[in-house]
Amino acid sequence: MWPYPTVLAHRGGGTLAPENTLAGVRRGMQAGFRAIEFDVMLARDGIPVVLHDPWLGRTVSGSGNVFDYDAAELAALDAGSWFGRAYRGEPVPLFADFARFCKDHGVWMNIEIKPAPGHDIETGAVAARMTAALFAAEIGAAEVDARQTARVPLLSSFSTVALEAARAAAPGLPRAWLTDKLPLDWEARARALGVVALHVNQRHLRRAQAAAVKAAGFGLFCYTVNDPRRARTLLAWGVDAFCTDRIDVIGADFA
Ligand code: G3P
Ligand code: MG
Repeated sequence: MWPYPTVLAHRGGGTLAPENTLAGVRRGMQAGFRAIEFDVMLARDGIPVVLHDPWLGRTVSGSGNVFDYDAAELAALDAGSWFGRAYRGEPVPLFADFARFCKDHGVWMNIEIKPAPGHDIETGAVAARMTAALFAAEIGAAEVDARQTARVPLLSSFSTVALEAARAAAPGLPRAWLTDKLPLDWEARARALGVVALHVNQRHLRRAQAAAVKAAGFGLFCYTVNDPRRARTLLAWGVDAFCTDRIDVIGADFA
């Protein structure tokens, strides 16, 4: 039911390296991780980049909105200095390069579609289309042999509009619905979206909800679990997987 790894490094390399950078993925790999979550957003020219915030200034040098810049302009900005001098000049990754790197290095991806405000449809469609093109062979193999599903990335989003656009653009790609708290009508909404899993905030999840999600046949993933004791509790409740910032405390082999 959950063919993917159990522990994912959040935003690439958790808190050990600048988030959403190739340096972060490399750091996660050094720690033994071969599965990550990261965020994808469109630049002004429609090219997706790996970024969390829709504005510059927190993790990336500069100011203003991400959507006011072309991807090449964003890629020239510094996404590493905020974290430490050793990472000065670390670029904002282009999604195409980032996904290719992960694929080539056997790093499984939970690709969070993170649209800048008002750009849900095109962000979902572009992220899905590019992922499906890169993993066409794996998607085809999974269609004839379910065991191959583990090689295909999983898209997720808080934006149900982006999830619908992703479904239309690449129906063969699995998708998950990200939600802070499970709403009362979660099951009907999840079925209508055609998602394979629910990705929920671990803070709000209750044991009975976890049991209900699993009984309904969905995968269940939690973000962001940084306390090993909480991680053990969630896994005991039937949670399939989670992402962590603390890849130094919760290792890839934790489960
Ligand atoms: O995909 C899980 C998690 O990353 C969602 O929250 O804000 O860290 O992208 P955020
Ligand atoms: Mg995220």
